[in-house]
Amino acid sequence: MRMVVLGLGYLGATHAACMAELGHEVLGIEVVPEKRAQLAAGEVPFYEPGLPELLKRHIDSGALTVSGSYADAADFADVFFIAVGTPQKKGEYSADLRYVDAAIEELVPLLTRDALILGKSTVPVGTARRLSERADELAKDIDVEVAWNPEFLREGFAVDDTLHPDRVVLGTFPGGNAEVVCREIYKSMISDGTPFIVTDPPTAELVKTSANAFLATKISFINAIAEVCDAAGADVKAIADAIGYDARIGRKFLNAGLGFGGGCLPKDIRAFMARAGELGAAEALTFLREVDNVNMRRRTRMVELTREVCGGSLLGKRIAILGSAFKPESDDVRDSPALNVAGQIQLQGASVTVFDPKAMDNSRKLFPTLDYAATALEACEAADAVLVLTEWKEFIQLDPVEVAKVTRTQNLIDGRMCLDPLAWKRAGWSYRV
Ligand code: UDX
Repeated sequence: MRMVVLGLGYLGATHAACMAELGHEVLGIEVVPEKRAQLAAGEVPFYEPGLPELLKRHIDSGALTVSGSYADAADFADVFFIAVGTPQKKGEYSADLRYVDAAIEELVPLLTRDALILGKSTVPVGTARRLSERADELAKDIDVEVAWNPEFLREGFAVDDTLHPDRVVLGTFPGGNAEVVCREIYKSMISDGTPFIVTDPPTAELVKTSANAFLATKISFINAIAEVCDAAGADVKAIADAIGYDARIGRKFLNAGLGFGGGCLPKDIRAFMARAGELGAAEALTFLREVDNVNMRRRTRMVELTREVCGGSLLGKRIAILGSAFKPESDDVRDSPALNVAGQIQLQGASVTVFDPKAMDNSRKLFPTLDYAATALEACEAADAVLVLTEWKEFIQLDPVEVAKVTRTQNLIDGRMCLDPLAWKRAGWSYRV
C-alpha cells in the first residue's frame, strides 16, 4: 500500500522505515532541511540500533522516499500517518499541539481525493475529534477521515517494537474505513497473532496516555520504596526482585535509581494531568503529581549524596559523570536525569566532566558549559567522585581497579544500581546508591 508519514523524528523515521519493511511504498515528509538531506541519503540523524541499516536498505530500493513538500504528500497517497512531536508547552503542563495542528492545516487543503489520516503522536484525549472536525472544514468536496493509531515504541528498541508490537490499537469514528485500511497495513502482524484492538478515538488516545502513566507510576513506586529503604537500611533491589516474582506485579520497570526522563514519560504524565483538569477530572490524577515529585526528588537526592560523599561541599571538587543519555542505547538527552544532575552539581561549584558513548553531541548542545571527555576513564581523571547515571553496558563492564588508578578518591555512586557492588568495594571503592 502507498502511504505518507508526516514527521521523521524518532517515531516517524522508525515508522516509515518499518512500513517499507512490511512491503509498503512510503513517502516520509520532514520539514527540517538538514534532517531531510541526511535521511534522503540513508542516514539516521539520531542513534537508534538497527534503524540505519533498515532505512538505508529501503531508501536504496526506492520503497522509502523523503520530501519536504506537503504537495508531494497529497499527490503520493491517500493514507497519512501523523508522527510529529507533541512536546510540553513552555511554562505549562499541557502538550503543545502546534505541529499536529500544522500537519492538518497544511495537508488537508491540498488533498484532491478521499483520504485517511492516522494519528500516531501521543495527544491529549479529544484531539482526534477536534482534528476530524477541522479536517471536515478544510476538505474541499472530499471525505477526510481521522482516526488514532497510537505508537508504543521504546527508544533503543524502536525497530523491534514497531515490527513486533505487543498490540496494535486503533480508535475510529463510526462509519469510517480506518479498520479495513489498518488490517491491510498491519496484515502480517495481525496474522502472526498480534492483538488488534479496535475502539473509539478517545479510548485509543487514553490507552497510550494510561500506559505511560502506569509505567511512570511503577518506576516512582519503587523509587518511593527506595526512599524508605534509605531510612530503614534495607535493600530496594532485593525488594524489587522479591515482589517482581509475583506475576501480578512483575519485575520489569521496577529498577530503582535516578528515575525516568526522556521525551515521553515526564511530559506525558504532565499533559495527562492538565487534560484531566480541563475535563473536570483533575482529582482522579492527583497521584501523578506525586509520581512526578518522587521522580524529581531522585535528582535532588543524587546531588545531595554527591555533596555528602565529597565531605559536605561541592566547591572546587571534580565530579565524573558517566552517562548523559536519558537511558542506555539512546542518544536522546531530552529531560535527561543525568544531565540535570550534572548541571545542578556544577551550579554548586564543582567542575563536572561528562562522558556518554552516544549522547556527546546532543549533551554539548544542551549543556555547553559542562566539560566533556573522550572516554570514561578520561572523565574519571582526578575525580573526587564518579557517578554512573546511565546504565550503558560499557560502564557495567568497567574494571574498578583501572578506574581507581585515575581518580583522586575512590567514591562511586551507582545511580542506576547497575554495577557489582562487591567488585567495586573489593577494589577499594566506597560504593553508594
Ligand atoms: C516510553 C514507553 O516505554 C514507550 O512505550 C512509549 O511509547 C514512549 O515512552 P522511552 O521513553 O523510550 O519509552 O523509554 P523507557 O524504556 O520507557 O524508559 C523511560 C525512562 O524510565 C528512562 O529514563 C529509564 O531510565 C527509566 N526507567 C525505566 C527507570 O528508571 N526504571 C525502570 O525500571 C525502567
